[in-house]
Amino acid sequence: MKNTVLTFKQAKEKGEKLTMLTAYDYSTAKLIDEAGVNSILVGDSLGNVILGYENTISVTMEDMIHHGAAVARAAKNALVVVDMPFMSYQTSVYDAVVNAGRLMKEAKAGAVKLEGGKEVCPQIQAIVQAGIPVVAHLGLTPQSIHAFGGFKVQGKTEEAAKKLLDDAMAVQKAGAFCVVLECVPAKLAEIVTKGLEIPTIGIGAGNVCDGQVLVYQDMLGMFSDFTPKFVKKFANVGEIMKEAFTAYCKEVGEGSFPGEEHEYTISDHVISKLY
Ligand code: KIV
Repeated sequence: MKNTVLTFKQAKEKGEKLTMLTAYDYSTAKLIDEAGVNSILVGDSLGNVILGYENTISVTMEDMIHHGAAVARAAKNALVVVDMPFMSYQTSVYDAVVNAGRLMKEAKAGAVKLEGGKEVCPQIQAIVQAGIPVVAHLGLTPQSIHAFGGFKVQGKTEEAAKKLLDDAMAVQKAGAFCVVLECVPAKLAEIVTKGLEIPTIGIGAGNVCDGQVLVYQDMLGMFSDFTPKFVKKFANVGEIMKEAFTAYCKEVGEGSFPGEEHEYTISDHVISKLY
């Protein structure tokens, strides 16, 4: 069944867990969609896992549209959420609405996600008023990595924990239908989750959140540059891929691939005319 913002609302009301995974291309999104995941996030983490950047700062609107559209073509049932990249919404409310609109029209997103609390509430409100569903993102917000001074757990002090709680209330009031909590102590995520009417989706925020999200390359063991504590490897696909690539090199090298079964035929009559 097609997942929408109503699926998220009803899941929270019924206490049913929500599932979200990232995807950035058609084939992977199709597999994830067929697995029955509620939502596919076209995260700006594509900067790291697809484009090989150190962080998400360099990701552009064109990157998000290009990958978002590929995922949207594959997703039959999952709600496709596309990230708003760095500086596509921080600059003004006007920019935020225009760029969110582009993600809906050109990438065929079902919702957009942006990072930040109170400071981006005017943007959230305006995007929602334009009829576009918004996912908020609090805690470790990678677009602010330089301001944080690195990838660190957020909300650990009394002041930071209170701010996160205030921000969560503010983004809900501004109209976000869901909030991602990244790298937040589990007990704080629990307080936020219990205090909100909208669902929380955790990544490194414990299991009391209303749902979970992971970067698919992380959970499949396909990305080895950096593995955060919160990642569980559900399979070691990276190793399987490497074995297959090595076997391919070996078989091509020794001439055993392609075999006869991979060849196309032509009549001997045609061949005889070529000599
Ligand atoms: O970009 C991304 O993949 C994300 C998730 C880590 C939540 O924002």
